[in-house]
Amino acid sequence: MGSLSFFAKAPSNIALIKYMGKKDSSRNLPENSSLSMTLDRLCTYAEITRAATGSDVQWIAELPRHEAAKNLTVPQLSDNGRAKVLRHVQRSREAATDILTAFGLAADSSAFAGGWELRSANTFPQGSGIASSASSFAAVTLASILACAKDPSAFCAMWERDPALRAALARLARLGSGSACRSLDGPFVLWSGEDVEVVKSGLPSLAHFVVLVSATEKKVSSSNAHLAVKTSPLWNGRASRAEERVAAVRAAIAQGDLAKIARISWNESWEMHSLFHTCAEPFTYWEPKTVEILQGLSPYIAEKSPPIVTLDAGPNIHVIVESAYQDEWEKRLRGFGVPVLRDGPGRGAQPLFQQKGAP
Ligand code: DP6
Repeated sequence: MGSLSFFAKAPSNIALIKYMGKKDSSRNLPENSSLSMTLDRLCTYAEITRAATGSDVQWIAELPRHEAAKNLTVPQLSDNGRAKVLRHVQRSREAATDILTAFGLAADSSAFAGGWELRSANTFPQGSGIASSASSFAAVTLASILACAKDPSAFCAMWERDPALRAALARLARLGSGSACRSLDGPFVLWSGEDVEVVKSGLPSLAHFVVLVSATEKKVSSSNAHLAVKTSPLWNGRASRAEERVAAVRAAIAQGDLAKIARISWNESWEMHSLFHTCAEPFTYWEPKTVEILQGLSPYIAEKSPPIVTLDAGPNIHVIVESAYQDEWEKRLRGFGVPVLRDGPGRGAQPLFQQKGAP
C-alpha cells in the first residue's frame, strides 16, 4: 500500500500586545488577551505522512517533500523540543475526528491505523533569531488535521471559507504553544482566553522588518519567562493594563491610527522587558546593540507616521511601517550595521494538499 502525504504551511506572528504569564500552563491559557500581526514569508512547512505500518509518530529530520519546500531549512530539534512537537501531533490526531465532524467533514478511519512521519522546515535559517514555535505548531496542527480528513479537498475548501474552522484549529494549536493560535489566520489576530478572532483593519499597506541583533539561542525559554514575570513587583496590574491596551490597539487598527498603535506597542514592549529585568532572578534578552537601536528609533515614535517598534522574548527588533516608506526605512535600519529581514502582513496558515505514491 502507498503512503499518503499531507502538507501545510504556517507563518510566524509578532505580538503588539504580548502573551506573557499563564493562568493555566497545562492548557496555555493566558493571563491576558494579546493581539498580533501574522507575517507572510517567515513560515514553517510541515508534512505528515501516513505509513502503512507502525502506530506512533516519528520525526524525520528531512525536508518536507513538497516542491515549495525545496530550499528550506530543517530545524535541529532538542530531545525536549522533538518530544513536545510529537506529543502535539498525537494530540491533534486524537482531536481530529471531533473537529472534522463538528464541521460536517468525515474522518478517514485509515488515518488512525498506522504510524505517522513528521517532516518540517522553515523559510528562515536555524539560528536566524526568528522564533519558530508559533509557525511550527500552527503548521503541524493543520497538517495533522488535514491528514485525518476523508476528503482533503473538501477540508481545504472549508478552510478557505469558514473562519470558525480556522478558530477551532487555533484552539488546538494553542495547546502545543500559546502564540501558535495567532498564526492560523490573519493579518491582525486577537487571542482572548480560548478564542481567537481576526480584527478588522483600516490600516494602509504595511511592511515588516526584523533587525537581527543576535542569532544565538535564547538563554531563558519563553515557557520559563511566563513563570518568572509573576515574581516582578511590576506584575501588579499587568493583566488589566494589557487588556486596556488590547482594546485601544484594536480600535486603532480599525480606525487606521498607526500613530496610536506605535505608541502603545512601544510602551507594551518596554513593559514586557521591564518585567524580565525586575523579576526575582532578573535576566535580559537585550544585547548592547538592542539598546543602541532602541535609542536610535525612539525619536521616531512621536512622529506623524511612526514605525511600530516591538520585541519578542529576544534581542531582535521588529519594525512595522507603511509600505509607502519601506525603502527609506530599510535603508535606515540597515544603517545600524546588522542584518535586516523584510516581510509583511499575511493571511495565516494554508493546507497544501498533495498526494504522493509509495517511494
Ligand atoms: C514573548 O507561545 O512561546 O513571544 O505557550 O509556553 O509555548 P508557550 O509560550 P510562547 O510565548 C510567546 C511569548 C512572546 C509574546 C507573544 O508572542 O505574545
